Amino acid sequence: MALDLTEYVASIPDYPEKGIIFRDISPLMADGEAYKQATAQIVQFARDKGVEMIVGPEARGFIVGCPVAYELGVGFAPARKKGKLPRATVKAEYQLEYGTSALYMHKDAVKPGQRVLVTDDLLATGGTIGATIDLVKQLGGVVVGCAFIIELNALKGREKIKDYDVLSLMNY
Ligand code: PRP
Ligand code: ADE
Repeated sequence: MALDLTEYVASIPDYPEKGIIFRDISPLMADGEAYKQATAQIVQFARDKGVEMIVGPEARGFIVGCPVAYELGVGFAPARKKGKLPRATVKAEYQLEYGTSALYMHKDAVKPGQRVLVTDDLLATGGTIGATIDLVKQLGGVVVGCAFIIELNALKGREKIKDYDVLSLMNY
């Protein structure tokens, strides 16, 4: 029997700012069966796409993307925040639901023509995933899909990624 993954999301009002309902996936990650089910659903979505690399943004995109990469037998490349990558990088700036930031990837993290699935825990405004896609494209990679555990419908992030095949396991 499939689990109802909504039971493994904690909703915290007014965090980190008044008016934001923070959707916390740590109960899902803490439960072996729930984490396995979420991973399996994303692996299934990725199966027929010829995925050669997973890319996920710091920090929660790593939690989602790494087990998917392991299951598919492909590599994982992180998109990281400022000052974390030691070699030559490409950069993409973006806006958050609460603040602005930039993400970076090593210049050799994705090979030209490589088929990439981008993963994150949550799609809100789409700024983070948009920047992650931008980085993959700067490196010559081909984004073949985007997968999230949670999508916040009201923030309309999907409009920023309407050209891509998108999977969200839960919608709020
Ligand atoms: C959160 C979340 C997504 C992003 C979604 O990350 O994990 O990456 O916000 O918001 P957006 O669609 O409006 O860009 P955050 O930047 O808080 O970083 P963290 O994962 O390091 O906590
Ligand atoms: N990232 C951006 N908005 C968020 C939210 N409401 N909950 C958890 N992570 C987020």
